[in-house]
Amino acid sequence: MTENPKRYTVTAALPYANGPVHIGHLAGVYLPADIYVRYLRLQNRDVKFICGSDEHGVPITIRAKKEGITPQQVVDKYHKLIKESFENFNISFDIYDRTSSKIHAETAGGFFKKLYEDGKFIEQTTQQYYDEKAQQFLADRYIVGTCPKCGNENAYGDQCEACGTSLNATDLINPKSTLSGAVPVMRETKHWYLPLNEYEPWLREWIVEGHKGDWKPNVYGQCKSWIDQGLQPRAVTRDLDWGVPVPVAGAEGKVLYVWFDAPIGYISATKALTDDWEKYWKDEETKLVHFIGKDNIVFHCIIFPSMLKAHGDYILPDNVPANEFLNLEGDKISTSRNWAVWLHEYLEEFPGKADVLRYVLAANAPETKDNDFTWKDYQARNNNELLAILGNFINRAVVLTQKYYDGAVPARSELTDYDKTVLEDLQGIPLVISTYIERYRFRDALAELMNLARLGNKYLADTEPWKLIKTDAERVKTIMNIALQISGSLAILMEPFLPESAAKLRTMLNMALGNSWSAAGAADLLKEGHVIGKPELLFEKVEDAAVDAQVQKLLDTKKANEAANAVVEPAKEDITFEDFTKMDVRIGTIIEAEKVAKTKKLLKLKIDTGIDQRTVVSGIAEFFKPEEIVGQQVSILVNLAPREIKGITSQGMILMAENADGSLAFVQPSKEIKNGGTVS
Ligand code: MF3
Ligand code: ZN
Repeated sequence: MTENPKRYTVTAALPYANGPVHIGHLAGVYLPADIYVRYLRLQNRDVKFICGSDEHGVPITIRAKKEGITPQQVVDKYHKLIKESFENFNISFDIYDRTSSKIHAETAGGFFKKLYEDGKFIEQTTQQYYDEKAQQFLADRYIVGTCPKCGNENAYGDQCEACGTSLNATDLINPKSTLSGAVPVMRETKHWYLPLNEYEPWLREWIVEGHKGDWKPNVYGQCKSWIDQGLQPRAVTRDLDWGVPVPVAGAEGKVLYVWFDAPIGYISATKALTDDWEKYWKDEETKLVHFIGKDNIVFHCIIFPSMLKAHGDYILPDNVPANEFLNLEGDKISTSRNWAVWLHEYLEEFPGKADVLRYVLAANAPETKDNDFTWKDYQARNNNELLAILGNFINRAVVLTQKYYDGAVPARSELTDYDKTVLEDLQGIPLVISTYIERYRFRDALAELMNLARLGNKYLADTEPWKLIKTDAERVKTIMNIALQISGSLAILMEPFLPESAAKLRTMLNMALGNSWSAAGAADLLKEGHVIGKPELLFEKVEDAAVDAQVQKLLDTKKANEAANAVVEPAKEDITFEDFTKMDVRIGTIIEAEKVAKTKKLLKLKIDTGIDQRTVVSGIAEFFKPEEIVGQQVSILVNLAPREIKGITSQGMILMAENADGSLAFVQPSKEIKNGGTVS
């Protein structure tokens, strides 16, 4: 691809419409894609930014069954939710379409038909897994088993998520139906296969030879290893009732495999967007870029390109800058465990702070390795970077300009060496940032943007115009002029990363819309005499309480998960009635309680057992405060032989019930019982 393509088609992976989107999605795919596209637009490039919901596939039908609604109801619900989340985070798609649309069925069906008619498929009748209880063939996620490559016991029929290998259901060891749990039987069925093995030499030339050093190492490495291992024909149809019908005779009741139809969704969406769609997909001078997460690499680098190649009319991706995964507070993000920061929930709890999350996720994006999101880091990046560096600099520049000059940009006079270096640095930064962005290094690009704000901050701190104004008002004009030029450039350069704050800053500086990237860095971006607007705070402090609440919410989730997963202990061996009657359990009342010094768990209790008043040491201090339990009735085993615990003689044992989360409760009578009453 030339450095100067005529136009760009930028796609972001179509999210499955079977759940809301979380920070992992945003950091891995949609945010980098959006930064890239916003940057291209500022460069006045012709670009279409394409996305939509992936509304087919087995996970959606599984969710529908679980919730007792139709697959269409599932996708309607989540399509709306996901679309709104993206809008609220200012992900600037030109279209957010969906694969249940009519145009898509026609486009995907037509694509299949052309390959079918051109003889690009192998037609094969084979034995496939069938669930006799559910009366259904078991495709993809309807079947789990052990991965033959890595031994993961929960690999799906189309992919092992542990090692990323793409599988056929028949590869699985010990397969089991996820519908009924049944061991499936074999039954005959006919399907169409794309013979990926035939594309191997071409893929080798195109990727292994052609994109070495140009695609990211993680992407290139995965592709090369797949190609080196040898590719197999891959079925592109399924026996399911949810999906795009296979439009050829003899395929009744069959649909396209979701990974066949979904990427064609990029094309359908472009069609829905513009009548001019063909030049975005068929002209060699268009640069096609797919933004995805690492679990999508094989589909976007091997399978979809082979489909496009088989078709013959389409261009191929120039790059597929896949990201690694984002973890949350040290654990893998998981929808089923509710271990996520959901985008729609974040905005309810941090209204108006979409940019803050964009910033934190871009600064910590999993570009080259998995990364961790923590709320402490969120708070630190907001308070120490956005607020203390960027916000502080802008605020000083705007407030002082208002105060000294009623908002009119003052004239520069003679420049010191320091002024000259600052202006030179300013001039150089846009190219540094754009070079990073064009190489898909968004973290580095953002760091460079912050360096510009740092430069401005330092310049004002070093020159101290607020002091100088009393002795050298002329010099202050030059300083403030330079600070304002930096501010103006920031307003342009930060737009891809922080669109809401950039818009605010433009208003503050009264800058024309339509300033393009090339205007940034100029020494006269804001002309002498130009009148700026009123100061407004760009960012505000994130308090401890706000992030503590988020951490607590996650701790609660963890507890709830542990409780839900806790196993009930199996019953112990049988005992005789005589064994049981040996135990003398009584109702007593706690009359004194205190912590045992230098221990975390122990309380020393005095119990009125009706028989006597005795001391019992009990390991319940983590769950009960001494002052709260005095007066409570408990069940106590009074004939347990005395034991020495931490130098205290404990006479008996309080009976405790343990909850699934490990917390403890007293075993108490349901009405008050006179102390000494027996329990049997
Ligand atoms: N729905 C898939 C996922 O979330 C991505 C589909 S991308 C497309 O992993 F290319 F198929 F559209
Ligand atoms: Zn595996």
